[in-house]
Amino acid sequence: MNILIIGSGAREHAIASACHRSKTTPQLFCCGSHVNPGIAALTVGYWAGNLSELDSILQCVKTWEITLAIIGPEAALEKGLADRLWEQGVPTIGPKKQSAQIETSKYFARDLMKRHAIPGLPQYQLFDSLEGVELFLHELGEVGYVVKANGLMGGKGVKVAGEHLHTIDEALLFCRSLVEAGKTFLIEQRLIGQEFSLMGFCDGKKIIHMPIVQDHKRAFENDVGPNTGGMGSYSDHDHSLPFLDQTDMRTAQKINDAVLQALMQETGESYIGILYGSFIATRDGVFVIEFNARFGDPESLNVLTILESDFVTLCEAMCRGSLSEEHVRFARKATVCKYIVPVGYPDSVVRPEPVNFGFLTDPSHLYFGSIELCDGELYTMSSRTAAYVGVADVITAAERLAELEIDRIEGPVLHRKDIGTADAIDRRIAFMKQLRSNANAG
Ligand code: GLY
Repeated sequence: MNILIIGSGAREHAIASACHRSKTTPQLFCCGSHVNPGIAALTVGYWAGNLSELDSILQCVKTWEITLAIIGPEAALEKGLADRLWEQGVPTIGPKKQSAQIETSKYFARDLMKRHAIPGLPQYQLFDSLEGVELFLHELGEVGYVVKANGLMGGKGVKVAGEHLHTIDEALLFCRSLVEAGKTFLIEQRLIGQEFSLMGFCDGKKIIHMPIVQDHKRAFENDVGPNTGGMGSYSDHDHSLPFLDQTDMRTAQKINDAVLQALMQETGESYIGILYGSFIATRDGVFVIEFNARFGDPESLNVLTILESDFVTLCEAMCRGSLSEEHVRFARKATVCKYIVPVGYPDSVVRPEPVNFGFLTDPSHLYFGSIELCDGELYTMSSRTAAYVGVADVITAAERLAELEIDRIEGPVLHRKDIGTADAIDRRIAFMKQLRSNANAG
């Protein structure tokens, strides 16, 4: 079997590693935006270029006689790569363009939930001008709103009251900039609680869920600083998280189920690929932040590292519409993933610097991201360099393993030491306890 992986970040390195472990011994190929040395070591063919050039990718598919494709990044889904691949007879993990709207249009996702009366929907309104904006902002309150550009913005289209926007005037200025850029945008109720990610494998009929993961988007310790692609994430041995209860988990699963069915009903398409619900547990229950139509990064690194069943067999079952629980088996282990990033990330990375991983004791859980090989040496690029995933029976032990290995990396790189520590987890548990007790008190 010849498998094509589209994308060249750490997420795609984890996908390639999971394919490489398969008993089906596939030949792996990659089309990415740069040559990731971790992926290159596992593949027999590699094309690096602009992933919007669908014709170039399709030419690779022909030349390499690809029999299964796995799409990593959302931009390729938005371009309709899955549609083109299926047209060429290539079974593909990743929904078609129409279905990918669940991620590519925030308004589509909210409206779908509304039309199908799916729970977990915050208050929201769509705008294409400034008319009515000020009134709705006041209705939600000084620190009670979030402004979200309606479309893929590479993580830069969301601004939160009290964090990025400090007054209604600042919010109006941001909204004006979106209008002037010709963008529609949503204003939504700001939700207070703990966020979590729940991804599932979809086979065109149903969804089978993966362990729940919590990502850390802020650049610096204690969740401050600018938003990033995600600085690290953790999951627990019971596949839930310490601050969630059984009802939270069941609610999120039911919302993903309902959204998948509603989406397939409206598009008339089979949704084959990953559905990733981004949720928040609040004092009033679980709400949806957004949906993604792909594996999360870094969340995929946590879950694929502990996937015990055969990933290639799982993907084949997804494409055939015959996925069952036995295809989806995860080790009952906790994981902590930490990204190392160049000094200055995310706003002011200056130049490539050499980075050395030669002293790691177990590099099998190391995933390369924005990194390149020049004259036999590895160099940082402008984004997240690499991630290490510690795996153990409990979160704190997984965290220590990740730290021990990251300490052995040489180069001008930083990481968040707090992710997955007992202190950080305890604070999250206490925060949720407090919120829930406030709710019970009335
Ligand atoms: N973890 C955030 C994302 O994958 O979009």
